[in-house]
Amino acid sequence: MNKYLTLALPKGRLGDSALEQFDKIGWTTSIQKDSRKLVFIDEVLRIRFMFVKPADVITYVENGVADLGVIGKDSILEEEADVYELLDFGFGKCKFSIAGQKNFQLHQKDSVLKIATKYPRVTLKYFASRNQSIEIIKLNGSVELAPLVGLSDVIVDIVETGGTLKANGLEILEDMMDISAKLIANRVSYRFKHDRIQQLIQLLQEQKEVTT
Ligand code: PRP
Repeated sequence: MNKYLTLALPKGRLGDSALEQFDKIGWTTSIQKDSRKLVFIDEVLRIRFMFVKPADVITYVENGVADLGVIGKDSILEEEADVYELLDFGFGKCKFSIAGQKNFQLHQKDSVLKIATKYPRVTLKYFASRNQSIEIIKLNGSVELAPLVGLSDVIVDIVETGGTLKANGLEILEDMMDISAKLIANRVSYRFKHDRIQQLIQLLQEQKEVTT
């Protein structure tokens, strides 16, 4: 399998945007769109695409089963991934924010701030430098519900259009950081397949939607 450059792509929105980029550089001829197959091999270009759940991209790359992967910076931060970040794609742009009900006072001394989130590590790190007691409630999705039903005071989540917050009567109380989609590499692969990886980066950089 070592003769292939193997890429793990997330199924879904981020993966579709990534495929558009790989399409532009002519790397997707082996891929049958709308197929349920999970692996596609191009024997001419010696590349292998694997389609995985977004949350699993980092696992495949860290283990070296995939040399490269495409994933959001939010996942890299939450997983504390031991990978190289090689390139910032021009898509998947959003931000981490603290959100809650209108006029909620974030900075309250002497009370524990209850935060619902899919991102407990990011949240813990962000609040570590503050003199504020917090309790993190880990959820797996639809976190906007939590402050509405009294499970938490606020949420820490990614905000893209702001539509989900608005639809649920919530608003951003504080922006935390910008995030976007990244090309990541396994550390060993980056050394041993350096030339091929550099060639890919160059091809992708020539696409105007991609920034360094
Ligand atoms: C993400 C995020 C927000 C929403 C933000 O959820 O957790 O809920 O998208 O997007 P917006 O600002 O454009 O509305 P996702 O769609 O991944 O679903 P989930 O809540 O089930 O995780």
